[in-house]
Amino acid sequence: MCGIVGYIGKDKCIPIIINGLEALEYRGYDSAGIAYVLNNKVVIEKEQGRIDNLKKKLNLLEDSYLGIGHTRWATHGKPCKENSHPHQVGNITLVHNGIIENYKELKNELAEYTFKSDTDTEVVAAYIDKLCKEKKDMLEVLKILKDKLIGSYALGIIVDGLDKLFAIRKDSPLIIGVSEKGNFIASDVPAILKYTNMYYLLLNDEFAVLDYDDVIIYDSDGCVSTKNIEVFDGTFEAAMKNGYDHFMLKEIYEQPKVISDTVNEYIKDKKTFLEKMKGLEKYTAIDIVGCGSAYHVGLVGKSLITEYGKVLVNVDIASEYRYTNHIYSKKHLIILISQSGETADTLAVLRKAKKEHIDTLAIVNVVGSSIAREADKVFYIKAGPEIAVATTKAYSCQLMLLSLIAAYLGIKNKILKDDVLEEYRKVSNLLSDSLSDTKIIERIANRIYKNKDIFFLGRKIDYALAMEASLKLKEVSYLHSEAYAAGELKHGTISLIEHNTPVISIVTDDSIRLKTLSNIKEVCARGAFSIIITNKDIDDKEMYEEIIMVPKVTDLVSSVLVISKCQLLAYYVAKLNGCDIDKPRNLAKSVTVE
Ligand code: AGP
Repeated sequence: MCGIVGYIGKDKCIPIIINGLEALEYRGYDSAGIAYVLNNKVVIEKEQGRIDNLKKKLNLLEDSYLGIGHTRWATHGKPCKENSHPHQVGNITLVHNGIIENYKELKNELAEYTFKSDTDTEVVAAYIDKLCKEKKDMLEVLKILKDKLIGSYALGIIVDGLDKLFAIRKDSPLIIGVSEKGNFIASDVPAILKYTNMYYLLLNDEFAVLDYDDVIIYDSDGCVSTKNIEVFDGTFEAAMKNGYDHFMLKEIYEQPKVISDTVNEYIKDKKTFLEKMKGLEKYTAIDIVGCGSAYHVGLVGKSLITEYGKVLVNVDIASEYRYTNHIYSKKHLIILISQSGETADTLAVLRKAKKEHIDTLAIVNVVGSSIAREADKVFYIKAGPEIAVATTKAYSCQLMLLSLIAAYLGIKNKILKDDVLEEYRKVSNLLSDSLSDTKIIERIANRIYKNKDIFFLGRKIDYALAMEASLKLKEVSYLHSEAYAAGELKHGTISLIEHNTPVISIVTDDSIRLKTLSNIKEVCARGAFSIIITNKDIDDKEMYEEIIMVPKVTDLVSSVLVISKCQLLAYYVAKLNGCDIDKPRNLAKSVTVE
């Protein structure tokens, strides 16, 4: 998500804006920029990379008292200086957080303008400039603008010659900070906490006009609003996590929204879906490659794409795949899964595949990352910056994308009907409901957090989920855990099961339900503390001490409902163990070394 900061007041604005942008760094970004009014002129500086790169170009003591700043998390247009904000067109300079869905249509009304970037934001700046030339009055312009723009936006706007700061939002967050010495706009509270803890929360379609010592908020009808001032009484740290104790928990709870954002990017309508997925049906063999959780995404994807795509799918760990010789079919595709887009082994597989002229598709979160740039084709997920080292929301979004590929191939094979896409539109609400009650999860966490060995069992897609569940638990709680194919346990490892050993079984696949249940009986016979995650009640209460129910839905979307329970379990066990949940020992968010 991009970060926005603006200021108008009695203090010099550049240090305030830079400080605010630094406080928003946790949101993730690939470039930063600032625009400030100096001697009645708008000066713009912007740089790719870290805020420090921008600071080197600034004189923090400039006599400027009105400005806007931005950290960009690229969505339209690759990360580069031209695409970074602020954007200036005519008399308008602005910063934007969000996605304007109808920017191409708006551009058609702006034939008299030329554009330097390929961003939706620059089109908005031109559109406002055009309206200003026609309407003159900025309030009128903002009222028209909010009816014209389709999508999400938080805008900070400076108009040449007007000593004011304008702000408007829809779906992207924006607050209006107030203080004795000046007024602020910001994407989030941390950006202004150093100067004030008082702010107005701008709601959808509301807009604000900030002066040096006055703020007027207008409601969605364009009337002056009399809303109350909010007062933030938490710490800076708490503000960055939006009130959650850890980024990991915050990101678990962001899943309903980011899954919705991700799938809607691909299935907003059937035409978009077919266009985005076009050509995937020509492949007769697919290799899915990644590391860690990304590899686990591939295991779930294999199950679904094999089932519905009727295509040969192989999944491998990148550090193994890159050193192995492969037999490629004439129509072979390698899908690379990577949240960061920078994992060394996965990138090495991509480069090797290109040398061997094998088609490559990357499923990536970070726009403009190496894997995204170098793959033949890239499907971005819309998980937003993932700060916690342990991936949760990115894993789930990547999983949904592989599932959409399976659904596309299933429709092409006439195994599925178009209406299967409705299932993807329901999953966010189901997930929100599922995440709302953590009582059972916390009770189980209290039961197992001192255990030294914890086992996850499953078969087929449930085994793939067990692998990810086990990794989540290990990496954040430091407890040893193993995921085992339920049918394989009796070939040796069952010797480790003793009284009170926690065994968490995932049972959602009806086709092998009874087999897995009989494996659960085997571990219960040896005294295991049995926990079952399932989508259908189990009559024999002897088979478990705790049961976690998930909604019964198509296997195309059920995995995210299951894994979110496992993510929460890992989180609460780690919390009870007092672990550094967001930054577990020995781990990095992106493993860019081999
Ligand atoms: C996931 O919780 C781990 N932090 C790790 O396994 C991660 O999935 C792996 O390093 C791959 O990272 P990537 O998705 O950025 O390529």
